[in-house]
Amino acid sequence: SMGFLEKLGSAEKLYTFDDVYIVPGRAPMDPSKVDVSTRFSRRVRLLIPISSSPMDTVTEYDMAVAMSLMGGIGVIHRNMPKEQQAEIASRVKSAPPIPTSRIYVTPDEDCSRAYDDLRSLGLRDAPLVSADGKVLGHVRAGSLRGCSGRPVAEFAEPSKAFDVRHVEDALNFLESGGSDTVAIVAPGNAYVGTVTFDSSLNRVKPSLDSEGRLLVAAAVSPFDLERARLLDRYVDALVTDVAHFHNVEAMTAAKVMAKEVSADFVVGNIGTYEAAVDALTVVERVDGFRVGIAGGSICTTSSVGGAYAPALWAVAAVRDAIDQHGAGDVPIIADGGIRSSGDAVKALAAGASSVMLGYLLAGTDEASAPLIRIGDSAYKPYRGMASRGAMERRFAVDRYTRASKRVAEGVEGVVPYRGSVVSVLADLAEGIRAGLGYAGASNIRELWEKARFGMAIPKQVPGELFRASQ
Ligand code: XMP
Repeated sequence: SMGFLEKLGSAEKLYTFDDVYIVPGRAPMDPSKVDVSTRFSRRVRLLIPISSSPMDTVTEYDMAVAMSLMGGIGVIHRNMPKEQQAEIASRVKSAPPIPTSRIYVTPDEDCSRAYDDLRSLGLRDAPLVSADGKVLGHVRAGSLRGCSGRPVAEFAEPSKAFDVRHVEDALNFLESGGSDTVAIVAPGNAYVGTVTFDSSLNRVKPSLDSEGRLLVAAAVSPFDLERARLLDRYVDALVTDVAHFHNVEAMTAAKVMAKEVSADFVVGNIGTYEAAVDALTVVERVDGFRVGIAGGSICTTSSVGGAYAPALWAVAAVRDAIDQHGAGDVPIIADGGIRSSGDAVKALAAGASSVMLGYLLAGTDEASAPLIRIGDSAYKPYRGMASRGAMERRFAVDRYTRASKRVAEGVEGVVPYRGSVVSVLADLAEGIRAGLGYAGASNIRELWEKARFGMAIPKQVPGELFRASQ
């Protein structure tokens, strides 16, 4: 058998995002025409190849809604009671599949104040909404002009409201120019939100299910069948959320779970060819792989346990396993360590169908942690799911081991505040389109065929950057 020295000498080359680049190729078209649509899992289609990570400082209701509105998908974290996670998923499913704001006037407010408010927003009109959230009518700034001391209710006109299931009609109405705003209502005339003329101009395409609702996924432990059964009623995909899925107990439990749920069943995390083959053999139904171990920005697994399967290398290994074992085209989600659209392009080129982001989305308004101010700067907390703080919430500790866990495998910190996730995602999608353009691919499938990897030689020497700046 192999000697120890020989084993060291034949060490795998665990390529990371910094080790390789994409060699430019012949592009068939302008990058703006590049198609970045993809699949998150076997039956879940996305318009942009991006999901948000199931971490308690990243994905709850606001992030999940925004991800789907922008063409991606959010995976709701599981560090909470299952009823709460299900409630969030069901709210995403009943959210309007269009960006809304909460601009409205109320019946009792003074008409001159309402006039000033509408003028300062640059709007000619707004829905009139009662204190208990019913749409009562529509109010035009024009009819409030010069008024004083009278309640807004006296100026009400018939409402311009559209059912949450018919937002396309709302956009068409706004485009026709008749008004600047319309109300979106749920059954019973309940106010859901306001759509402004702007949204009809800058239509972003949401990723939707077959019934026209926003997409949403949820993280589950493979050992928590009850949670999976409950969430299965609301989500498009269930994602097993364990640090090392290549574990006989986890795979055996997942095999049972896969048979009990009807949503797409994504398993992970895995990091090797052998793990993919075993998972395909044991679990039987695998609708997607979540791939990458210990590469996350907040992750200390490689220093605690010495293990590492960086997403780039792991994606390539799992893609080969899928191809060579006739598993068709099970989509791969590259997870951990993606710090730019360039990294995302490399992951896709290595065989991934989409990327999962924690760090890149944690600084946004929609991330599920409160904004904090330190001096003149704004930040948002971001922590690993195996950090002390996250483990104290208890619900997701079996990500790492089913027995009680003492040693943290993640850190807690803050990331700079970055505004709305809408512009962050728009920039990432544009960067990914540009990357496919450079690679000479018009879509992700073509990228798999055409992408050539290159390595820069010599590699940067540690300390070089510091010495160069001296
Ligand atoms: P990024 O780099 O986007 O990575 O911040 C997010 C991914 O990291 C994983 N994750 C962890 N890994 N300890 C780990 O070893 C942790 O505490 C931890 N929390 C999250 C997870 O796969 C996530 O999607």
